[in-house]
Parts: sequence; structure tokens; C-alpha cells
Amino acid sequence: MYSRIAGTGSYLPEKILTNKDLEALVDTDDAWIRDRTGIVERRIAAEGQTTCDLAEQAARAALAASGLAPSDIDLLIVGTTTPDVVFPSTACLLQQRLGMGECGAFDINAACTGFIYGLSVADQFIRAGTVKRVLVVGAETLTRMLDWSDRSTCVLFGDGAGAAVLVADQEPGILSTHIHANGGYSHLLKVDVGVSRGFKAEPRGGLSVQMVGNEVFKVAVNTLGRIVDETLEANQLGQGDLDWLVPHQANLRIIKATAKKLQMSMDQVIVTVDRHGNTSAASVPLALDEAVRSGRIKRGDRLLLEAFGGGFTWGSALVVF
Ligand code: UT7
Repeated sequence: MYSRIAGTGSYLPEKILTNKDLEALVDTDDAWIRDRTGIVERRIAAEGQTTCDLAEQAARAALAASGLAPSDIDLLIVGTTTPDVVFPSTACLLQQRLGMGECGAFDINAACTGFIYGLSVADQFIRAGTVKRVLVVGAETLTRMLDWSDRSTCVLFGDGAGAAVLVADQEPGILSTHIHANGGYSHLLKVDVGVSRGFKAEPRGGLSVQMVGNEVFKVAVNTLGRIVDETLEANQLGQGDLDWLVPHQANLRIIKATAKKLQMSMDQVIVTVDRHGNTSAASVPLALDEAVRSGRIKRGDRLLLEAFGGGFTWGSALVVF
């Protein structure tokens, strides 16, 4: 038994924040942001619009694409680091919003790797025969926890949501998933406040993403190179055997390094970072859905999905779409 992606969906908030707009906020410029990240603009959730709001739109689109109703779903997984509230989980809020039955519903916090982690968990549940239909969502309002005076982080992130419906099938489907973490790198990319610590950030105050960008960059390039090898080896595939790379959209230079490692032309790489920025757990399903809806990714194509994020966490999925 395999799991197969039956439908994808995504949603972006309407408000666009351009690099030019950011020039008015911090000491930055459009040329620097384009050169160093590939980002041109990003979306910002409207006031009062929550992660669950974004997730709902993406989930409804994925369900419609799969031809399934909310009540058909056996398990709901939401990858997010920006939940609406501490609890109930965003998955529980979304379950109620969609009018699903009493299926299991939980969030995964694996930062930018949240959707890949969710896909991996969903795949294991389906392969084990425990459930038949899983809705996996990656949804974030990361701009809610940016320090808008810190140019090294505030230019990088955006809001959005993406989703996929997985169903049990005799044919693949997801060929393999690979997930990893190394908490030894937790100091390089973090939001340093939380319930148990009493919301007191040390040494800096406030709820904000802090990142040692150039250190993260180096480890990301190296680690994504390793997971690409691991994924190909696990499936006894070579570099020429992939149709598409659907990477996490943090930085165009990181994406290009992974494509180079795979000897893939950039024509075979789905890039949305220019328009979405880094939407964390939403970035891979957003890119996937955009490529599916534009007709670039077709049924039967072989895709490599990968992500890297805070934790550090990283993961991949090899998928026959
Ligand atoms: O999704 C989770 C994983 N996250 C990532 O993978 C992100 C990984 N890191 C990156 O994408 C890159 O490291 C950044 C885009 C964050 C930064 O690019 P960089 O080429 O590594 O720059 P840097 O941090 O080494 O900084 C170079 C210079 C510094 O100035 P000095 O010290 O050389 O004078 C920074 O202060 O660029 C400066 N700088 C900026 N200048 C204009 C940093 N941010 C900005 C900015 N505008 N927004």
C-alpha cells in the first residue's frame, strides 16, 4: 500500500509587500534583497487574518482538487510554527472550520520542514493501513513575529498556506520520505520566547525571529546536498532520474546550489521565492500547488520535495505525482 497525492491547494493573502516598501522601513535596498535572496515581494496576512484562516482556504482548494469532502478525511495534520493560539492546535480549529468528522487532528512544529514532516507522518499512517485519506497542511503567518527594525530578518519572510490530500493506493505515490533534526543548531535560528519561559526573551526582548543568516546558509546548503543523496540512494535513482525539484523557498542561492548538486537545469526547479519570500512550512506545498495548477507538474512526473529550517530540521520526499 502506498500514499498518493490526490489533490493540492494553496492560498496567499492579498496584501503585497515589495522590496521597495521595505526600503522605507529599514536600511536596505531592492538590489541587495534580490541579489542575496532572490526575493522581490512577499504576502502579508491582513489584520485579524490568522494561520487557520489561510489554512482553511488552502485546505478547501486541496479537497476540491481531490474530489473528496471534508467528512471523507481520516486524519488532519497541520505544519505550523505560528498557531492561532497555544491550544487548541490549529489542526483542531481547522477541523471544526471545515466541518470534518472526529478524525485525529494535530499540529507539527518542525519550522520550515513542517509540511515535509507532515507528509512523512501521513505516509506512514497510510502505509500501515491505519487510515486511508489524510489532509496535510503547511500554514504560517510568520510576519506576525518579525522584528520590523531588523533588516537581516524582516526582508526574508512572508505569509501563506499550502495543502495536499493523500489517499491510499496500490500504485505509488510517495516512494520515500526522510526526516532529520539536529537540536545542536538551535541557537542559529530561533524565536526565543515561549510559554514555559514566561515570554521573557534573553538577551533581546520581543517575539521575533532571530537568525545568524550566513551560518544557517552554509549548513542548509551542505545538509540539503546530503539529504538529496540520501533520497536518491534510498530509491536507487541517479541524478538524471528526476523530473522536478520542489525545494523549500528560503533563498534562490540555496535552491540553485541544490539544483546544481542534482545536475538539474533551473527549468526543472519550481521557484516561488521571488513572489512569496520564505513562508516556512507553507513554502513547499505552495510551490507544489502553483506548479500543478499552471500545468508544469503533471501526473506521473517524479518529484523531489525538500526543506530545511529552524531546529535545525530537514527532510525530503520522493513522489510520483
Ligand atoms: O528557512 C529557514 C532557513 N533559512 C535560510 O535558509 C536562510 C539562510 N540564510 C540566507 O538566506 C542568507 O544568509 C541571508 C539572505 C539571510 C543573508 O545573506 P548573506 O549573503 O549571508 O549576508 P550576511 O548575513 O553575511 O551579511 C552581509 C552584509 C552585512 O553587512 P556587512 O557586515 O558586510 O557590512 C549585513 O549587515 O549584508 C548586510 N545585510 C543587509 N544589507 C542590506 C544584511 N541584511 C541586509 C539587508 N539589506 N536586508
